[in-house]
Amino acid sequence: MKMMIKGKAVLRGEVEISSSKNAILPILAASLLTDGNVEINKVPNINDVVIISKLLTHLGIKVKQESSQLSLGGACNAIHPPYELVRQIRASFLIMGPLLARKGKVRVALPGGCSIGTRPIDLHLKGFQALGADISLNSGDVIAKANQLIGTHIYLDYPSVGATENILMAAAMAKGVSYIENAALEPEIVDLANFINSMGGRINGAGTNVIKIKGVKELKGVNYTPIPDRIEAGTYMVAVAATGGNAIIKNIVPEHLKAISAKLIESGAEVIESDDHLQIKRESRIKPVYIKTLPYPGFPTDMQAQFMAYLSCSLGSSVISESVFENRFMHVQELSRMGADIKTEGRTAIIRGVKKLTGAKVKASDLRAGAALVIAALTAQGDSILVESEHVDRGYENIANKLNAMGAQIENE
Ligand code: EPZ
Repeated sequence: MKMMIKGKAVLRGEVEISSSKNAILPILAASLLTDGNVEINKVPNINDVVIISKLLTHLGIKVKQESSQLSLGGACNAIHPPYELVRQIRASFLIMGPLLARKGKVRVALPGGCSIGTRPIDLHLKGFQALGADISLNSGDVIAKANQLIGTHIYLDYPSVGATENILMAAAMAKGVSYIENAALEPEIVDLANFINSMGGRINGAGTNVIKIKGVKELKGVNYTPIPDRIEAGTYMVAVAATGGNAIIKNIVPEHLKAISAKLIESGAEVIESDDHLQIKRESRIKPVYIKTLPYPGFPTDMQAQFMAYLSCSLGSSVISESVFENRFMHVQELSRMGADIKTEGRTAIIRGVKKLTGAKVKASDLRAGAALVIAALTAQGDSILVESEHVDRGYENIANKLNAMGAQIENE
């Protein structure tokens, strides 16, 4: 897939944010915790949802999508999804907690690395072992078995989002009470806990670093609407600021965007918040800023590449340090091909502002790097072609249409 992107765009008007990819993926995995009917509303048309839906279908769940309504029903009758599906998306691993809780056994191909790092799962497995599961490895698969999960205290060495979600789902139906300490605080964790509680779960403290889970015997089907996608919202905010535009971002939770808004304001943009939307505009030159990516509520790693594209044309030198992933600078090479002046040293990048970027043929290596290159191409002099743009479609619903409605000229090929 390719995106042909015209340069020198100025984004104006408004954009409606879709539901959060990173809330929906664990919620879909959590639908395995019940045989009842689950209805998820406002599901975006993105490829990651398609892949996870295929995975659930393979496990025996009946999955039906009617426009943005996703219906899931029936009992899962398998515990070992095919490697070809699992390897396509890391979030596949999130089925482990629910299947362990419901079936007492699960076998999943160990997730491969991806372009942003090795992405181990040791913390997930440590949590399952603490709950009483036996873990073994067999020809590239990890197998977890437990006749009965028993509630316990689990301390996470790192506030891993996926490990918090996976352990939360397993503990939701364990015998007794569990505590996850040093848990991730991301809004998507709170949404997952709210989803499970609406099914009859007993989870308290999600959104703080100690989550208490009282295991229950049964969970029922529900109708649920996930939170808006804070990273999609942040991406559009940065795109508007980068093009010197002025637009309204609709369907957001301002609280979830605090770190992003703060850095945009520091760089000279204006952010005017209301309860479920905000206005973003930039009229003055972009000021350089220092950024360090951190677990929530710190600056999100999923916004790092987009900000690097934005700061490429700032008035001075910015510094970005990527503390979450060990190799999340794949976009640097591509931005440099558009004329950016960026030096990386380990997990730190120094971005020396240039007057302008020039359009080029560039390649998306992952979802957020692809989004960063779209932003760079919109601001550049001349046209760009983004190849392997399917990476962007994994997490951004209708991104070309949404940007074109704001004044961009993008064609998918
Ligand atoms: C989630 O990934 C998100 N994905 C990522 O978004 C996001 O970048 C990441 O959280 C951090 O916010 C989904 O929610 C589907 P982690 P996850 O476990 O759960 C290390 C996007 O672009 N770690 O918090 O995989 C790991 O290596 C994607 O939408 C261990 O060492 O992130 C990494 O360095 C990209 N052992 C750090 O923790 C473990 O067992 C953060 O990983 C697990 C993680």
